Amino acid sequence: MSTPRIGIWIIGARGGVSVTTLVGLSALRNGLTPETGLVSCLAEFAHLPLTNWDQFVVGGHEIRSSTLQDEAQRLHHDSRVIEAVALEKSQDFLASAEANIRPGVLWNVGPTIRDLASPDVAVEKSARDAVDRVQADLRDFQQRERLDNVVVVNLASTEALVDSSLWPETWEAAEEQLGQPDCPLPASSLYAIGALELGMPYINFTPSLGATPKGIDELARKKNICHAGRDAKTGETLLKSVLAPMFASRNLEVMSWVGHNIFGNLDGKVLSDPDNKASKVKSKDQLLERILGYAPQSLVSIEHIASLGDWKTAWDHVHFRGFLQTPMTLQLTWQGCDSLLAAPLVLDLVRFVLVAQERGETGALGVLGSFFKSPLGTDRHGFAEQTEDLIAWARRSS
Ligand SMILES: NC(=O)c1ccc[n+]([C@@H]2O[C@H](COP(=O)([O-])OP(=O)(O)OC[C@H]3O[C@@H](n4cnc5c(N)ncnc54)[C@H](O)[C@@H]3O)[C@@H](O)[C@H]2O)c1
Repeated sequence: MSTPRIGIWIIGARGGVSVTTLVGLSALRNGLTPETGLVSCLAEFAHLPLTNWDQFVVGGHEIRSSTLQDEAQRLHHDSRVIEAVALEKSQDFLASAEANIRPGVLWNVGPTIRDLASPDVAVEKSARDAVDRVQADLRDFQQRERLDNVVVVNLASTEALVDSSLWPETWEAAEEQLGQPDCPLPASSLYAIGALELGMPYINFTPSLGATPKGIDELARKKNICHAGRDAKTGETLLKSVLAPMFASRNLEVMSWVGHNIFGNLDGKVLSDPDNKASKVKSKDQLLERILGYAPQSLVSIEHIASLGDWKTAWDHVHFRGFLQTPMTLQLTWQGCDSLLAAPLVLDLVRFVLVAQERGETGALGVLGSFFKSPLGTDRHGFAEQTEDLIAWARRSS
């Protein structure tokens, strides 16, 4: 039996996280880098039937006119994210992925994202037409590359919040919306529907709506397919989900939690738009109340400082009190490279989702909650308990 070929279809294929993922995947294939940062390479998961690096074939949708090679060069030169050897050795792999990139969907993405788009990206007359085009591209990718399976990963710019009263509660309601000229679903949800209708798993790495509405989850269950989201937990929020349970377990009262984030990449530029920023702030802020059981005063700021490029600094100030009510303070500074923190998690998520699919799991995969700021399919938000869930799930799959 020949080794299965697995497609990774990336929405936002020429973005920072995507390009870092591709250069990283190429480096792993060439043995140029150890597996540091990859959760799926921990001993706890060694018994799982995980897809090997050389089984993956990459394609995707994108709205900007650039090339993967140019974007990788920029990450190397401007932000020093990628080393010269990894860049040089990834050229063929990037070229093969570049040949599989198709123009993306601009339905309901808002003015800031639309401004990024090349003028030749078409806007469909209806949301259903956009879904049809996504599906034609996915089918073509699967057939041309002779793929046994395709996983769709949303790594596109963060869309504005969609009023939750407009989220379809059932698949029937979602289908009805798709036919309306003012369909309120954003592109991220249309990509999700496109993938799930074809029986392809969908991963939402971003705070955008994606497969969050119940009606889209219902579609996944009908099609016996799984999905995972929402908004990967890579830096400051990861720390919050580690530290907040400590305050709760020691019965320390958190009075306020302030987090200031500064960074300078394209993601940060899109998040300068208050509408787009609102999605991210909500995602970063909500887990405190869920973990602590009450809502301390909190503030999350995200500012675009161009000179920082892909390097993010987050400064958190936690004001708390304990016995005899004396106030105390924890301050921490996190300085990380956004794309390098995110890229290995993209590969982990694809590998774990494929195992879940193989096991016939459907709907939102709560067991992958440790990867997300706003996890779907679980109420657990503390990092330690989420990691226990993942390990227990892996044991069950032996
Ligand atoms: N550590 C992290 O980097 C991290 C963590 C959690 C979530 N995220 C999210 O992941 C996403 C990607 O981050 P990034 O740093 O790579 O951003 P980026 O701005 O570098 O890349 C996004 C890419 O998506 C493209 N795009 C936008 N709308 C599209 C559409 N409708 N269809 C197809 N392509 C589209 C853009 O042109 C761009 O190339 C963002 O939403 C970000 O908030 C990133």
